[in-house]
Amino acid sequence: MTTYSVGMVGLGTMGRNLMLNIADHNHCIIGYDKDTAKVDEVNQIPDYPGISATTDIKQFVGSLEKPARIILLVPAGKIVDYVIADLKPLLTKGDIIIDGGNSYFKDTDRRFNELKEQGIHFMGMGVSGGEKGARFGPSIMPSGDSEAYKCIKPVLDDAAAKFNDLPCSRYMGHASAGHYVKMVHNGIEYGMMQLIAESYDILHRGMQYSNSEIADIFENWSNGQLAGFLIESAVQVLRKKDDVTGGDLIDMVKDVARQKGTGKWTSQDALDLQVPVPTIDLAVVARDLSGFVAERQVLHSCENQTTLPKLSQISTDELADAVYTAFILTYNQGLHLIKIASDTYNYEVPLIDVIHNWKAGCIIRTALLVHFEQVNAQNPQSTMLITDEAICSLVKQKLPTLRKVVIAALEHNFGSSAFASALTYFNMFTADKSPMNIIQGLRDLFGAHTFERIDKTGTFHVDWD
Ligand code: 6PG
Repeated sequence: MTTYSVGMVGLGTMGRNLMLNIADHNHCIIGYDKDTAKVDEVNQIPDYPGISATTDIKQFVGSLEKPARIILLVPAGKIVDYVIADLKPLLTKGDIIIDGGNSYFKDTDRRFNELKEQGIHFMGMGVSGGEKGARFGPSIMPSGDSEAYKCIKPVLDDAAAKFNDLPCSRYMGHASAGHYVKMVHNGIEYGMMQLIAESYDILHRGMQYSNSEIADIFENWSNGQLAGFLIESAVQVLRKKDDVTGGDLIDMVKDVARQKGTGKWTSQDALDLQVPVPTIDLAVVARDLSGFVAERQVLHSCENQTTLPKLSQISTDELADAVYTAFILTYNQGLHLIKIASDTYNYEVPLIDVIHNWKAGCIIRTALLVHFEQVNAQNPQSTMLITDEAICSLVKQKLPTLRKVVIAALEHNFGSSAFASALTYFNMFTADKSPMNIIQGLRDLFGAHTFERIDKTGTFHVDWD
């Protein structure tokens, strides 16, 4: 019987593409899926002698070299538990299950602990880059027992995207660290996409550029400081024609954004850990709000000013600078959250390797990450990127432009919540004094919650009457 060095559970597009990618690097790989059609599809791929697929889970596990290395690419949630339950009786001590889906990190911790009791390694592994990434090189964010990671590392390094020949698949830390980092990656992705959406809105409704003109503007941006996957992708989205009407497809797409939950999880955990990530929060809020279509229609018809005055006081170069600055502040929020989460959950995440893994293959890759990597290398203990002198002065230098864009957008009744949140986030961090003293005074007045003084240590309570 042929033996295989890797197993793949879930032969949807992502699973099949990652299988082919792994097979391209001379690893024999067998796939398993309950769906006969998906299994047949893999078995019918010509010119790949090193791969095969089956609907028989016993045959699947039985044909794997020991320790078994099994990657799951199935939808996050209960299905992961069902697959684990089916695999568990067939596995032995030392075998490794690697969950490559967008699983919730607390589920990953639970599965990690449950399987540990049986001596089976469970690894949470973020995979970014969509279908193309899976096929030709995703960014991979693995975590779990370092012993298990070492065992699968050669396969991951081969399959991953490369930046200057270095694989973007570095180890992210203990337990669910990989899924945590991927969750925050997606939170940053939400923030960046919202900033792109707000820019499109300003350019389209505000400055009255056509879709193809905006595509040209974005293309110009992507050839400069804003080089990166999402801006490049926005060019493609804006240029796509609709087969049905012959017009621009973007004009036929309903203005309601859906979500699978990773951005919301980022905000939820940031609130639990008390780390401010306002641009990510507002990106989630903007998607939620877009879903209230009936209410939006009612409120739109209440608004007197149906045609907005042309927004002409900012240039497209200024808008590009505002996006650049807000991107920095969004990355900062996400990396700050990872740092605090790493300390809280004892992940020991090497931030420099997170930044490295995001340089290629993933959705949030931009030229900025190379700069962040240098900054982190100089000061690995720093909690926030923007406390670095060079990054802080870069943001400060561009801040008047971000402010100008926010003011112009708000004056013209645009939402622009992501731009505004990035600006206020920096304003609040850089203010010499926050107004929280009055909050403390009020809390002590009505609830005797006590306050601290600036001239003495300890906590105090007074009768405010
Ligand atoms: C990636 C993407 C991927 C997926 C998101 C979309 O890194 O390849 O982030 O994971 O596109 O889950 O999330 P929403 O459906 O919530 O926008």
